[in-house]
Amino acid sequence: MEFGDILETVITPTKIHANIHKDFPVLFSEQQIADRTAEIGQEIDRDYAGRSVVLVGVLKGAAMFLADLARRISVDCTFDFVAVSSYGKGLRTSGAVKLIKDLDQPIEGKNIIIVEDILDTGLTLAFLRSLFEQHKPGSLRIAALLDKPSRRIEKIDADYVGFSIPNHFVVGYGMDYAERFRNVPDIRLMPPDYPEL
Ligand code: IMP
Repeated sequence: MEFGDILETVITPTKIHANIHKDFPVLFSEQQIADRTAEIGQEIDRDYAGRSVVLVGVLKGAAMFLADLARRISVDCTFDFVAVSSYGKGLRTSGAVKLIKDLDQPIEGKNIIIVEDILDTGLTLAFLRSLFEQHKPGSLRIAALLDKPSRRIEKIDADYVGFSIPNHFVVGYGMDYAERFRNVPDIRLMPPDYPEL
């Protein structure tokens, strides 16, 4: 190994912390997530039998959940995606939600299920719900893999919830801390003393 490579492994933050999530406690295993996602898929199949649904994923956090949930749904189904401004780098939300990427297809008259990784303060989903309602969908529901009810600022509930959790910051399965850990296959608790990046 060249000196430059050694130096890089020491000073590059991504390399210093490359495997640090292995020390984060697992909150939900891949199997638990898969089992719960399958149950939600069955509920959706029952609720929308004979109809079509549009799954609208909220980028980027919901990408994994949408991909897995969609494969557990057998009713006719299409995808769309929106992106909103979110947490930024740290653990705290600014409170302001902004649409960064709009829907590709009109939703008027369609059965929309917004698919979100985590329902926290509710600001994001309250914003999206009122935005989508202006487009007169046939129906509008919310599927959130995780729900932190104790953090709620906006009065909003998901119609399908994977797991309700206490006020802990989590990463993995699409959820990030400063854009990292989205690829961790299970859901892990972020230690409170993890350094701000
Ligand atoms: P809300 O608008 O406060 O409900 O926040 C929703 C968004 O905040 C989620 O889609 C996540 O992107 C982010 N978020 C909230 N809690 C967590 C967490 O524990 N880990 C990672 N992201 C989170």
